[in-house]
Amino acid sequence: MSLSQETITAIKETIPLVNKEAENVTTRMYEILFSKYPETKSMFDNAASDQHKKLAGAIAAFAGNIDNLGVLSAAVEKMAQTHVKTQVKPIHYPMVADALITAMGDVLGEAFTDARKNAWVEAYTFLANILMQREHELYAQQ
Ligand code: HEM
Repeated sequence: MSLSQETITAIKETIPLVNKEAENVTTRMYEILFSKYPETKSMFDNAASDQHKKLAGAIAAFAGNIDNLGVLSAAVEKMAQTHVKTQVKPIHYPMVADALITAMGDVLGEAFTDARKNAWVEAYTFLANILMQREHELYAQQ
């Protein structure tokens, strides 16, 4: 599977907006995640304080390299390792997707058009599939 040029363009259009509002998007994302899916909270409890900000930041960074996944492979491996350590499972991916996309809508407002939102859902799903596959292998090795 790969992403269409249309999706990549829509993602790239939103990168400066997301970067400018990164702090607000991150804060809102965790607010939504922990209130709507409280079962995820303990997974983040042992995170070093700056680690906490990595998730949303990484998603934005990933988006910036959306058309150059080779660059991301080392990052993907590190994410998968950390996720397995913190017991991230496939069931959690839609929760983070919901929290992230809702947070982006709340913070970016009208700039987060339906086309851009759809592109983000597609891109998130794309990366989530790569991560889940690698994490599945790592869990199987344990
Ligand atoms: C496409 C989706 C996701 C991306 C791009 C992503 C990215 C990342 C990155 C880059 C890190 C830091 C890794 C490190 O430096 O060691 C991380 C850590 C972590 N992620 Fe994810 N993640 C995703 C989905 C999820 C999901 C679904 C969960 C489950 C709720 C989750 C929970 C965590 C936890 C608990 C940590 C460690 C604590 C922390 O760094 O805050 N992630 N993730």
